[in-house]
Amino acid sequence: MTRKVICVVGTRPEAIKMAPIILALKACPDIDCRVLATAQHREMLDQVLRIFDIKPDIDLNIMRPNQALSTLTARLLTELDEVFASEKPAVVLAQGDTTTVMTVALACFYQKIPFGHVEAGLRTGDMQNPFPEEMNRVVAGRLAKWHFAPTESSRANLLQEGIPDADVFVTGNTVIDALLSVVERQTALPFDLDSTLRPVLVTAHRRENFGAPFQSICNAVLALVERNPDIQVVYPVHPNPNVKDVAHKTLGGHPRIILCEPLDYLPFVEMMKRAYLILSDSGGVQEEAPALGKPVLVLRQETERPEAVSEGVVRLVGSDFDSIVGAAQLLLDNPDEYRKMARGVSPYGDGQAAGRIVKAIQNHLATCG
Ligand code: UD1
Ligand code: UDP
Repeated sequence: MTRKVICVVGTRPEAIKMAPIILALKACPDIDCRVLATAQHREMLDQVLRIFDIKPDIDLNIMRPNQALSTLTARLLTELDEVFASEKPAVVLAQGDTTTVMTVALACFYQKIPFGHVEAGLRTGDMQNPFPEEMNRVVAGRLAKWHFAPTESSRANLLQEGIPDADVFVTGNTVIDALLSVVERQTALPFDLDSTLRPVLVTAHRRENFGAPFQSICNAVLALVERNPDIQVVYPVHPNPNVKDVAHKTLGGHPRIILCEPLDYLPFVEMMKRAYLILSDSGGVQEEAPALGKPVLVLRQETERPEAVSEGVVRLVGSDFDSIVGAAQLLLDNPDEYRKMARGVSPYGDGQAAGRIVKAIQNHLATCG
């Protein structure tokens, strides 16, 4: 008997991290894997699904320009509830800490559908940082039946919250599965890099940085370019209007700053490989860049990914101008300091996480008849 497993994806990082699981589930003859796109992101979700050749079976087309958290949450919950009621899946899986995953967990709870949380147990312990993601993953974790924790420390966070050990599976993070599946490919970039300059890659989109912190980040990037004639900044700008407008106003038009649309996943991996240094507030980039041997300065006050910080290959710099400029200048000027952060370690996985997650689901389906 085949059993229906629904995999939900809403935003770009969810699609990247769920793709290895979806592809593995589709290879199981006893599982009917259906892909539900909430499309909390539209273009950025579509480009990832295209790269992995995944076509949603159901598409809620939720995204609206500059969507507010409350309306996004309400619309997601209503529509997910309707889909789960009609589809009646045996299992639902979703990844991470977005509004999509929090509402998926809640809709499953209301309909008593077992929910598996992928990338479980990440915590900063501070509900405001990152906002609203810390709340989203705490809620998803409270409601999940299975917790697929990427590392031992995420497992420890869950046990500390009273989650039974038997429900926690340390699997590694599927972001490394996805990365390893594409890293050997040579991909063209949609712009020309100047081979005489050191590329510095920048990404930023966190809600807690909107306003003055994000302006300070842009000012620091501009100061670094002006002080260092041998660097070039590549900044694929997130389409959220709260970051797009400030980024273009502050950094647009500089001859050594390339501001571009979000890069498709393959060119973005290519750009990480070519970067000398990365400045980012992204969660996924903190996991990928260490595996590629690239130092990351994290534009956040806290991180739920402490493993790479402990390894010394990722450093938290926040949004303070002097802190960002000082830390980046040290790495640009001092080869010994640079080498210490460019060691190529992968604390987030071995590329086999999806197989472990699928095995756990198969074991459950085999025992529940
Ligand atoms: C969302 C997640 C965040 C995750 C990030 C990954 C929430 C609350 N936030 O943040 O946790 O780290 O995705 O990138 O779940 N937009 C487009 N096209 C797109 C995507 C976004 O135009 O393909 C614009 C729209 O105006 C949209 C806005 O960006 O309303 C914000 O999108 P939203 O998903 O609410 O938040 P993000 O900041 O993208
Ligand atoms: N990424 C991408 N194109 C870009 C920027 C990022 O494909 O222009 C990928 C990156 O490789 C990583 C993921 O998107 O896997 C991170 O997404 P984002 O920073 O939007 O979200 P977060 O990880 O912070 O939730």
